[in-house]
Amino acid sequence: MILPTVAELLEAATERMRAPELLSEDPAQEARELVAHALGVLPAQLPGMARERLDARGHGDFLRLLHRRLSLEPTGYIVGAVEILRIRFKVDRRGFIPRLDLPVLIGAGLERVREDAQGFALDLACGIGAAGICVASARAGLQMDLTDVSEEAIELARENAERLIPGRARCFAGDLFAPLPPERRGRYALVTANPPWVPDGTPLPQEVIEHEPHVSFFGGPDGLDVVRRLIADVPAWLRPGGAYAQECDPSQVAKVIALLERGGLRDCRAHRDAQGVERVVSARKP
Ligand SMILES: C[S@@+](CC[C@H](N)C(=O)[O-])C[C@H]1O[C@@H](n2cnc3c(N)ncnc32)[C@H](O)[C@@H]1O
Repeated sequence: MILPTVAELLEAATERMRAPELLSEDPAQEARELVAHALGVLPAQLPGMARERLDARGHGDFLRLLHRRLSLEPTGYIVGAVEILRIRFKVDRRGFIPRLDLPVLIGAGLERVREDAQGFALDLACGIGAAGICVASARAGLQMDLTDVSEEAIELARENAERLIPGRARCFAGDLFAPLPPERRGRYALVTANPPWVPDGTPLPQEVIEHEPHVSFFGGPDGLDVVRRLIADVPAWLRPGGAYAQECDPSQVAKVIALLERGGLRDCRAHRDAQGVERVVSARKP
């Protein structure tokens, strides 16, 4: 049997990732991740290998990974990594897999802090730490605090932070602002958050509900229980002029803006994803 070249396999794998039950955000990216993992290389190395033909072992390894993916295991957990804004994060079942729209939140946060900003920033409900680490990578003067209620997610965030922004992050496990050192109150230049915002009882896809930590998703009857508590406290933790950016469902944008204004934050804005859908809200403390 003649085995495919890397380019041929990528094309075929991309087609398989388009299966509607997989709900892939980016079939070509998932195909690159799986093929690279089977070959023991990074996705960025694949273009240089396009004409190489797979050997029986590499092909067999790929078929095993494909089988896992088609059984609805998320690609991030299969390959143990996820790439956001060209930064490669470790991910495993301890944490939620960042979605490809996370750069909308990161971009909204970065719009609000100058390139030479100094001081502290916080990524709250950080999961594996991707948003905070991307912000810190783009703003060298910021020290990043990462918090999450899940001890397991925070372990993973710490591993990512130690590798990607060594010496520039502190990690805390606990409910919202509770685990933070009191001296950080009133000092954050930026707080980013992608907290749980899915209304209880919303049916989620099988690959999500069977594999990812449930604490990541559900936020009470209208999805905003955690968000309401967060927004009630965030003004006290921002410094004057400090900014807040948060992801939510497009249907919640108006409600979240109203909560922010009621809390005394100003200059509220909605930020759209590549499809033009409002995914993130940001605001500033006067
Ligand atoms: C949708 S996930 C997002 C994770 C990460 N921000 C990202 O976008 O990849 C929501 C995160 O909120 C965390 N979380 C849930 N309730 C929380 C709470 N009360 N305090 C802090 N974090 C919480 C979960 O553990 C989970 O990591």
